[in-house]
This record gives sequence, C-alpha cells and structure tokens, in this order.
Amino acid sequence: MGSERTEKPTRFSTVSITAAQAPLRGRLRLPGDKSLSIRRALLTLFTDHDTTLENYGSGEDCLTALYCLKQLGKSIERSGARALIKGRFENRHAALDCRNSGTTARLLMGILSGIEGEWVLSGDESLSSRPMARVAAPLREMGAAIELTNGRLPARIRGGTLKPIRYDAPVASAQVKSAVLLAGLSGGARIEYREPFPSRAHTENLLGLKTDKDGWLRLTENAHAPSGTDLSGTVPGDPSSAAFWGVAAALIPDSELILENVLTDSSRCGWIDVLKSSGADIQADNETQVYFESVGDIICRSSRLNPIQISQALVPSVIDEIPILAVAATRAEGISRMKGLSELRVKESDRLTQIEKHLSAMNAKIESHRDELRIQGPTELRGSVIDSQQDHRIAMAFAIAGLSATGITEIHSADCAAISYTEFWEDLVKLSPGSLHKYEN
Ligand code: S3P
Repeated sequence: MGSERTEKPTRFSTVSITAAQAPLRGRLRLPGDKSLSIRRALLTLFTDHDTTLENYGSGEDCLTALYCLKQLGKSIERSGARALIKGRFENRHAALDCRNSGTTARLLMGILSGIEGEWVLSGDESLSSRPMARVAAPLREMGAAIELTNGRLPARIRGGTLKPIRYDAPVASAQVKSAVLLAGLSGGARIEYREPFPSRAHTENLLGLKTDKDGWLRLTENAHAPSGTDLSGTVPGDPSSAAFWGVAAALIPDSELILENVLTDSSRCGWIDVLKSSGADIQADNETQVYFESVGDIICRSSRLNPIQISQALVPSVIDEIPILAVAATRAEGISRMKGLSELRVKESDRLTQIEKHLSAMNAKIESHRDELRIQGPTELRGSVIDSQQDHRIAMAFAIAGLSATGITEIHSADCAAISYTEFWEDLVKLSPGSLHKYEN
C-alpha cells in the first residue's frame, strides 16, 4: 500500500500571506469529505467484501482511519484518491493510534465495544486532551468495559455482546451518536437515541435510519451494516473545506468560484444558509442524491454582508465552520452574534479562545462571553502573527483572513492544514497567485 501512515510529522512550517491581488475565479474540486470517508472506511469492518472508495479524503485523519483498519487486519491499497479496502477484521487485540482524529477514535470506540476482544486506543497530544467520557458513558451503560485515563485517551476497551439502550444524549455530537449506533450494530443491541439538536446525519444515512417526529433514532438488534458493494463509490467533496473558499469568494471583490461536487447535505451546509441569510451571493446547483445525501456544485460570488446570526440550534450544522464564519463576520455591516459555542472549546484546540485572540490581533472588534461571540463589523483586518496551535481549521481560516487583510499575516504550524485538507496551500496558490509568500520547513 502507499504511505497511508507516515511517522508523526513535525509541524513547524510557517507561511506568510498577503492580500489577494485579483478576484478569486475558477472552479475547484475538493478532496472527499472527511466524515464520510472515515465512516465508509470504518464500516468495512462489518464486511469481508472488497470496498473501493473513490475521492477518498486525502487528509491525515482519513489516512489514520485506514491505518487503524490495517492494524485490525484489513488490507489497504491506495492509488491516487482511490482506496481499496479488502480482507477480514481478524485482530482481536490491537493498539490503535488515532493521532489527531477524534472521529476515528470515537467511532472505533463504539464499534470495538460490541466485539469480543481487547483494544487500546491512543492519540496525539491534542486528541489526548479531548473529552472521551461522553462516548464511554452510553457504551458502559450498554455493558462495554471501557477504562479511560482521566476521562480521556488512552482508553482500554473490552468488548462483547451489548445490552439495549435508550439514550437521550446531553450533547449534540455526531461522533457520540455514531459511536452508540455502531456499537448497537457490532454488539447486536437495540438502540434508541435522541440528541438535543440535529448533528450531521451520515451514520444514520448509511444505516438507512430516520429520526421519528420526536427526534428518536431507532436501530434494531438485528440491523445489518451496508455491504462492501453498497459502501463502494465516490466520496463527495468536503463542504467544510469548501467553506474556506466560499467565504474567500464572498470577501474578495469581484470573485466567483464554483466548488464542484461537494456534499450539500443540510446537516453539513449550515454555513451556506448562514452566509445566504446575511446577504451573500451563494447557492448550490446541479444537486443529486447519493446515499440519502445531496451532492452538488456550490457557486459563490463576492457580496456585501449583513451581520451573521447563529443560534445554539444551528451550531451542530456549522460546528467546524465557526472559525471561518467569524472571519466573514468581521466584514459584515453590524453586530454578528454566535451563540451556544461551548463545543468549540473541546475541538482540536480551544477554538473560541483562538478566534477571539487572533481576530483581535488582526484589528477586529470581537468579544466573547461564556459560549458566545459578538463581532462588530465591518473592520479592515490587519495582518498579524497567528500560531495555529496545530489546529487545521484555525490555520486555514486565518489564511483566508490574511487574503482579505492589509499587511502580512504569518501563520505558524501552517502544514497542519493537511489534517483535513492536504491540498489547501496549493489551492490557495492556484486561486490567488502571489499571496503565499514563503513556505519554510
Ligand atoms: C464529526 C463531528 C463533529 C465535527 C468533527 C467531525 C463527525 O464533532 O466537529 O470534525 O465526523 O462525526 P462532534 O461530534 O464532536 O461535534
């Protein structure tokens, strides 16, 4: 197989960005969606049949999922953006390093809980600081033996047949929801699951489940995972990566971008609705349905923005796009408010603190109060030094801020963009030649 796993990368590269000298124009194809790539890959643990995933996500998190599958006995062949997953899940004792990938760690915790065996899951420094008790709690209630380290990774899991659960989740998290549904699938247990606000629905879509009118999802004890043939196919482009260019096009005068073949499912594209309601010229076109998810082209043009309003109920549908939407809000005319953002504190970094600190340094008028952000625009952003703290979405959001700022924006640990979007800097050079000034290793 290709290098689906490299040694732990040292991240110390710095890039400098200056303002875009010309409108951003053209078409862009984005690598496969991270959430769907990881889900479809992990679901191959339930089948011995070959699965071919085209446009498999190129980011490190997606490669981490493949690496874990390999540790569990699967064989992986990669060629370009194609991943061919074959063989049997046969290792019943394994140590799995999930590196930076919360989705891999949490979904695996669910799957492995329902299978006889013993596994240890670990992660890098950032993943080892993120909460895992939210996943372990329902799985323990189902009978899985899970030992965490102060509520975090490393985790030791002893799995087996599981008991049914009816779980009214305290937090809207697609990772927790997916872990419980997948534990039901592997452990043969009936699941009833409800979340406070709808989070991305990919796992239930893959399993053919729908919420009832009261918001409950139900998986029966003899539910089947999709077959290798059903899982095979093309992964649509990642809307969370597309969002950086959607905002860049909105902010840079006379821009027009067409982002092709992107997942446009509403549980992921809250950012399009949010931008549209603040007056942005953005729309999805040519939409088709693939596996209960809509896929289409996103057309975005520069526009004057009104304030951005995000309520708590909307947050799960824009959870990964808050950093780039906060950048957009600095250019909106009036006060933007984003509420219910506490989950941002437990992402790859404390994103709420990072957004406030870096946007203030760039001259924005921004205040945070508990889990809320208030941004008064429009302000002209000024270049600053941004330490991304190896958080990919912070590095990319502030690169876009740099494209619409005066002066030089220097981004430290810039190569962490590769966690979700390996081609980001290349695409930036393509769309805004002359803006990326140095790339040092
Ligand atoms: C994801 C769910 C979200 C999101 C993450 C990917 C998923 O996390 O932030 O990038 O694929 O299920 P939470 O479920 O913790 O909100």
